Amino acid sequence: MEVTSSPDQFKQAMDGARARGELVGLVPTMGDLHEGHALLIRSARDACGFVAVSIFVNPLQFGSRADLDAYPRRLDMDRAMASALGADVLFAPGEAEMYPDGGPQVTVDPGPLGGRLEGASRPSHFRGVLTVVAKLFALAGPCRAYFGEKDAQQLALVRRMVHDLNIPVRVVACPTVRAADGLAVSSRNARLSSRERAAACVLFDSLSTAAALVRRGERRSDLLRAEMARRIGAEPLARLDYVAVVDEERWEEPSVIESPSRALVAARFGETRLIDNLLLPWPGEGSMQNSDVSSRSGR
Ligand code: PAJ
Repeated sequence: MEVTSSPDQFKQAMDGARARGELVGLVPTMGDLHEGHALLIRSARDACGFVAVSIFVNPLQFGSRADLDAYPRRLDMDRAMASALGADVLFAPGEAEMYPDGGPQVTVDPGPLGGRLEGASRPSHFRGVLTVVAKLFALAGPCRAYFGEKDAQQLALVRRMVHDLNIPVRVVACPTVRAADGLAVSSRNARLSSRERAAACVLFDSLSTAAALVRRGERRSDLLRAEMARRIGAEPLARLDYVAVVDEERWEEPSVIESPSRALVAARFGETRLIDNLLLPWPGEGSMQNSDVSSRSGR
């Protein structure tokens, strides 16, 4: 596996692979790689002749310098994991290499969805995400790019950007990897105390409750939201940030769900803020998993 911190060398590696006729896959990450990232890399490996993993802790998407500084950096372990999973190139630039002028003057406006839900809790977060993803896409060139449904709003916004700006990248969604009790795998889970860790499975419980209600025919969003909020409210260690039900296509929040929809939650456990989401079952979609949405829409 080639390891580089140079944007030019990364670009050359991608261009070279394409010139040899390889299908190129890109897995953008911020490092501290875990099983969720591993699924993305494996999916890219299965489909593509050449696989790139990027690791860049992107200052533009953090709310504060303290948060950015606290983000775990474990390049040696990440390098070993990416290599073991069969990546061909690891692109791990420093801040000065990605933002040589100290930060871009031109950034990507994430549009109306960028200010809602996660965007309401984290102003400028999605502008930062889309700006760095656009830079990575520009360096990578035409490729498949792998993103997790764990960050469903991020995934929706990346899709939107690719569509609206005609970026020649095919976005591939991968399902959320979960622990046995349902908690979505995340680098933030390591910050939870053992009591908070046990409490955090209430997020998936509440999403599963919403899914069970929809399976039984419930369509009223306020009722689904109320039930999710009630379950999270019953957990003393959880502080609810938001619960929402959005339609999968446009991310609007209808009062009655009439098409495939997704339930979303965000809550704090102590100092740690966690998010999760689940595609709600929909008649005719059988035992559809979260990931199937992407393949169904052919993107
Ligand atoms: P990061 O949090 O490192 O996540 C990288 C990718 O891994 C994202 O697409 C995320 O959705 C996916 N992922 C994280 N946990 C997952 C899980 N449990 N199951 C499946 N996939 C999971 O997301 C970012 O980095 C950044 O915002 C980035 C896109 C790299 C831009 O800086």
